[in-house]
Amino acid sequence: MLGLKLPTDPRWVNIVEKNIEEILTDHAYCEQKATSTAISLIVSFPEYTELVQEMTALVKEEISHFKMVHDKIINRGWTLGRDRKDDYVIALLKFFPKGGSRTDQLVHRLLYAALIEARSCERFRLLSEELKDKELAEFYRRLMVSEANHYTMFLGFARQYGDREMVDKKWQDLLDYEANIMKDLGKKETIHG
Ligand SMILES: [Fe+2]
Ligand SMILES: [Fe+2]
Repeated sequence: MLGLKLPTDPRWVNIVEKNIEEILTDHAYCEQKATSTAISLIVSFPEYTELVQEMTALVKEEISHFKMVHDKIINRGWTLGRDRKDDYVIALLKFFPKGGSRTDQLVHRLLYAALIEARSCERFRLLSEELKDKELAEFYRRLMVSEANHYTMFLGFARQYGDREMVDKKWQDLLDYEANIMKDLGKKETIHG
């Protein structure tokens, strides 16, 4: 349903389980970056009224996710650490060429956002199914549902604002590219690592 072409190796959860503090830290910053992305789309594309409305709602939701993860960190007696480099996102954002029309730029940013939501959702599903820590598993099950909705929303906006056929072609190409990146991942205790 998410369209992803390479599923995560479930053994990734074993790596994560050995370092819950690390995954929560990385996850907190994923939520912060999702918030920042929504704000940035408002600033870059203010004339897309429906997008601005949805991004305003998304800012609130993503920052509330950040708080939920931050609360988990402090409830476990830890303090939020520094941001982690997200090699997955760095590699992903190289796919579409820079420049192009304003619509192209919007579509590319929406497709990147859709894919990051889709992969996060896939990872959360795995955590919800495989984590031995049942409280954390339930936490990830609830977040998985939110991120699936975000994936649908971003892809829907890309199809609404861009040429449908062109958008679908770009989406398939991006999915292929992402599957290639994922071949080398699944080995670190980060959400996309
Ligand atoms: Fe989120
Ligand atoms: Fe999200």
